Amino acid sequence: MTYANISGWGKCLPPAVLTNDDLATFLDTSDEWITSRTGMKERRISHVNVSELAAVACQRALAAAGKTVADVDLIVFGSTTFDEICPNAASNVQRILGANNAACMDVSTACTGGMYSLTVANSMIRSGVVSSALVIGAECISPIMDWTNRDVAVLFGDGAAALYLESADEQTGVLAESLGCYGEARDILSVQGWGMKYANQQKYFGESNWAFLGQEIFKKAVSGMAQACDKVLEKSEISADEIDLVVPHQANLRIIDTLVKKLKMDKDSVFVNIEKYGNMSAATILVALVEAVEEGKVKSGDMILMPAFGGGLTWSAHLIKW
Ligand code: ACO
Repeated sequence: MTYANISGWGKCLPPAVLTNDDLATFLDTSDEWITSRTGMKERRISHVNVSELAAVACQRALAAAGKTVADVDLIVFGSTTFDEICPNAASNVQRILGANNAACMDVSTACTGGMYSLTVANSMIRSGVVSSALVIGAECISPIMDWTNRDVAVLFGDGAAALYLESADEQTGVLAESLGCYGEARDILSVQGWGMKYANQQKYFGESNWAFLGQEIFKKAVSGMAQACDKVLEKSEISADEIDLVVPHQANLRIIDTLVKKLKMDKDSVFVNIEKYGNMSAATILVALVEAVEEGKVKSGDMILMPAFGGGLTWSAHLIKW
């Protein structure tokens, strides 16, 4: 049996910081409102394209794994904010790195993008199609943000992270996963203006008009992530108290608290960095995982549960053994 070991990890956060107080200079909002409703204090804003942020994260992941670009068989890029409609962003990461042996693909599932990409890479390694992969979760939301809309402008940030996966004989990496989508409710979270539909309708094209029903998304996020976690625990026959660390999607601290209560998990086992970065969509969980590792919160053999939720409305959970 072949497994996919996670042997490298890296992140790239743009240096420019946008604080809650900065937002309050041009929006009718306040640090008090944003902090108490979301847990966010600041977020990062990128001045480069998402594939450029991702390439730096990949270089760091390869360095951590002790690998070179020639070792990479596959690049899977999860995002919502790809540089172009065509060609894909993974091919630009390949070009920047010089990883000429790698197959390249993009995965578009909004905030679950990094995690769906992990599933693609894990499955391709375990089935023998490739022996190694770079998994990317990266996002530059700021260029498509409606900076006049306080409902959404305070919630998001830019960032990137990458994992390096390689085939292994010992049981490690992804042990179980569950993926799904509430397609019937997809319209409660959409960025109107980008895509052929808007070009054809000649409506909103080139604008950023966010449809965002916060409270409905909140409820779906809790139920989607809870059912994904239940399925993963059932599949892996692991109980909630055997989980060493939960690294959830960081869209709202209240969503995380509600989820953890619902799953009857220990709050102290949850990794949270939402105060520093806000919701980085597809980058969120991978950045959080990388930071947890860097901060020494993960040791070999740890069981890590990673629930995610995003536009689509896609949901997922992954159980990994570090
Ligand atoms: N600053 C100040 N006031 C605000 C702001 C703001 N930024 N935004 C909204 N308000 C106001 C509203 O207008 C409303 O005022 P009113 O009572 O006078 O009508 C009041 O604050 C309360 O608004 P609610 O929408 O009820 O606030 P809520 O407590 O639900 O919090 C939030 C809103 C933070 C968006 C929450 O609903 C949430 O986190 N939803 C889920 C988001 C999510 O899950 N995202 C993940 C998916 S995103 C992705 O995948 C791309």
